[in-house]
Amino acid sequence: MGGPPEFGGFSNVDASGAPEGYAGYLDAVRDVGAVAEWKERSFALLEPRPGAVLLDVGCGTGDDVRALAPRVAPGGRVIGIDASAAMIEEAHRRGAAEGVELRVGDATRLDLSDDAVDGARSERTLQHLDRPEAAVTEMVRVVRPGGWVVLAEPDWATLVVDPCDPALGRELARSASERVRSGTVGRRLRGMLVAAGLADVGVAARVLLVSDVVRARLLFDLDGALERAVAAGRVARGDADSWRSDVDRAAEEGRHLAAMTAFMAWGRVPLRPRPRRSGTLAARQHLTDQGW
Ligand SMILES: C[S@@+](CC[C@H](N)C(=O)[O-])C[C@H]1O[C@@H](n2cnc3c(N)ncnc32)[C@H](O)[C@@H]1O
Repeated sequence: MGGPPEFGGFSNVDASGAPEGYAGYLDAVRDVGAVAEWKERSFALLEPRPGAVLLDVGCGTGDDVRALAPRVAPGGRVIGIDASAAMIEEAHRRGAAEGVELRVGDATRLDLSDDAVDGARSERTLQHLDRPEAAVTEMVRVVRPGGWVVLAEPDWATLVVDPCDPALGRELARSASERVRSGTVGRRLRGMLVAAGLADVGVAARVLLVSDVVRARLLFDLDGALERAVAAGRVARGDADSWRSDVDRAAEEGRHLAAMTAFMAWGRVPLRPRPRRSGTLAARQHLTDQGW
């Protein structure tokens, strides 16, 4: 693919006029080994088994839906929902598979009845919502008691780059987090699941390290973030140009590095009625902080 798409456009891919750029970006992210492992971990947390019905909210090109389908066969189903008709069309184009169901739909208003599925995941989608809590409430509503809700999101404010002047680095991370609607949702995942009354809440964090500067520029859209900071008057054009030269030189000498923290949180839907026990001892006892 060429350069990265405007990340804010993930909130409405159909209005972007260039959905293939968004699909291509998702493929580029999926190619990163660490991301593939992260996805596997989220799949395992759903405890897929034959006959189960699972849900992927904000499924994009449907690759995760297709990856999960064999794990619920025979007799199971994986439902992928995405707000973008173009993404769902692309997901269909990538091939039908047994047990795969793809639908256009809004994460904050799921067209599913209460307790309709055995487990639900959402990856890198809550960052694109104004009110991620609304999507979490919906996921909790449609998962049956005892089923898992699994969330995985980046936290763009944790973006760091070397080489970079510290002040410019802060602006880079700020711009990166402000270009999407909820750029710092990653750090809030655990709290949202506790607030939603889930049991056995756990959280893990992983730092995505990228030393290949071409890949870092694509995955994190470093240049786009910097341009936003320049446009907002927070970084001088000359400083931005110097930064680009510094990064090019560092890349030539093999000493460039970019990194960002991603979070994953999971919790089990309790038996109804679902109490709100935000911050209770029970919820805290089940916290399993895990670095990677
Ligand atoms: C960064 S992509 C992640 C796709 C996929 N989960 C993956 O890991 O490859 C975010 C997806 O969320 C979708 N999306 C954005 N807002 C949405 C909403 N309100 N409801 C459902 N999907 C939404 C976008 O269309 C896009 O496909």
